[in-house]
Amino acid sequence: MIKTLHLSDSEQDILTAAAILKDGGLVAMPTETVYGLAADALNGQAVRRIFEAKGRPADNPLIVHIADIEDIERLSLVEEFTDMARRLAEAFWPGPLTMILGKGDVIPDEVSSGLSTVAVRMPSHPVARSLIRHSGLALAAPSANTSGKPSPTTAAHVIDDMDGRIEAIIDGGSSSVGVESTVITLVTQRPRILRPGIITREEIEAVIGDIEVDSAVLERLDDEEKASSPGMKYKHYAPKARVILVRGADDKYVSFINRSYRQDRSVAALCYEDDIDKINAPAVSLGAKDDLRKQASRLFDALREVDRIDGVGTVYAHCPEARGVGMALYNRLIRAAAFTVIDLPDKRIIGLSGQTGAGKSVVADIMRRLGAEVISADMAAREVVEEPEVKAALCAAFGDVLLPDRSLDRPKIARIAFSSREHLQRLNDITHPHIVARMLDKAAHAESDTVVFDAPQLFEAGADRYCDCIISILSAKDKRIERLISRDNIDKDSIELRMSAQHSEEFFIAHSDCVIRNDGTLSELTQEVERVYRRLRYE
Ligand code: TXA
Ligand code: MG
Repeated sequence: MIKTLHLSDSEQDILTAAAILKDGGLVAMPTETVYGLAADALNGQAVRRIFEAKGRPADNPLIVHIADIEDIERLSLVEEFTDMARRLAEAFWPGPLTMILGKGDVIPDEVSSGLSTVAVRMPSHPVARSLIRHSGLALAAPSANTSGKPSPTTAAHVIDDMDGRIEAIIDGGSSSVGVESTVITLVTQRPRILRPGIITREEIEAVIGDIEVDSAVLERLDDEEKASSPGMKYKHYAPKARVILVRGADDKYVSFINRSYRQDRSVAALCYEDDIDKINAPAVSLGAKDDLRKQASRLFDALREVDRIDGVGTVYAHCPEARGVGMALYNRLIRAAAFTVIDLPDKRIIGLSGQTGAGKSVVADIMRRLGAEVISADMAAREVVEEPEVKAALCAAFGDVLLPDRSLDRPKIARIAFSSREHLQRLNDITHPHIVARMLDKAAHAESDTVVFDAPQLFEAGADRYCDCIISILSAKDKRIERLISRDNIDKDSIELRMSAQHSEEFFIAHSDCVIRNDGTLSELTQEVERVYRRLRYE
């Protein structure tokens, strides 16, 4: 532990910090994007200490910060300051653009991580520029967070991560941009964005013509694939809570969160200001939906805020569109989420549940005639148990449950599952996520704009979260018994047993948006279903 000086942005304090840097020390400085952890870029030993303080992998190179364009040639930082680089500098410097160029001989391996290139940027923040000028140095500076955590946008964030590890922290207020600079490499045949920021692809193309976006910006790299920007391969920006991106229309997202929260109180939302009042779960707002710059400036603070919510386990973040500044937001969020995305189908989904024998399948048939596509959970279950992954999981849990032809021995599985509550739970834990995924996939590909999830275990499987409306079919007990006896040809005792394992009527009433009672005639039922269905479709 060392004593970290907490400095202000006064001239006097900046001079103190400049002296520390000249001595080979580490100073956290504000920039317009995020706070940087600076050291003399040409002093390999000083730079090594940055990696130690952050716990940063040694193969992830640093950006060299300058105060004036002349610094590039004065300090021989690059092999050649090309025409294209000059044009970009003129258009965007000082500001949040980092250019990768062939490196000058003076750049130590610690900065470039042994690559033949170097990243250079001229920040616009007056404190950063004043510090660089007073030191007379070029400053190597990654974001001043512990490796893997969200980048710091206030001095308080830096103190959280770096107090006791570095010589000084300068407090220069909140970083206005909030996400790190756009990184573009100019050493590839065609210039390529390695990390999106608030200077967008479109803005850069307006200056130098067509450019590319590296595939690692939006997608996960395979383990063997080599990252053009080593920083892209690490899990990043992650709060302690688990982040999952949810892609879908506003109302779909809101209803997904609210239903998830009903079942699981550890759920929270990272959402837009526009929706926050409709969300019942604890929520952190990124800003107005159409104010992407505001969202960028809030992003890291919001991710840290999420961790301050009591008892939070999973955060569902509303997925931005990866265009313009939205590309920078998407790039950071998808890493915070370790590339986990839930796609909400662009369909009206009606969840249909209820007690056995109440008439669920009759209702599903009526809705099918009205134009809905019915997706049966039982059918999906029969399909998923033949998936190799599911079969393997079932064998791991219950021993060899395959027939000689490697298909599933269903009677055997049924016997095992119904032999104890624990076994049944285990079977459900394995199959439910796959069943729901398959139902969602069918929904996404449905021809009709309305689908019905016909699912006796709608709630247990967690399929209820995807429904726009949940309808439960209820019916008097003696009617249900009567129907089951004639349908399934089983005795009264087994029926009683089956029924006792089900949710009560009160449960279905409490968890549904609408209840249909099936105690009368088929034509009464049909009329009622038609009425409800039309209302749902606003017809
Ligand atoms: O806005 C910013 O750029 C902030 C502030 C402090 O200036 N800095 C920053 O640095 O975000 P850092 O180290 O957190 O991110 C630098 C990124 C990493 O993804 C790194 O892999 C990439 O730039 N990079 C640096 N040098 C590179 C090189 N020679 N070739 C390819 N990528 C490079
Ligand atoms: Mg960083």
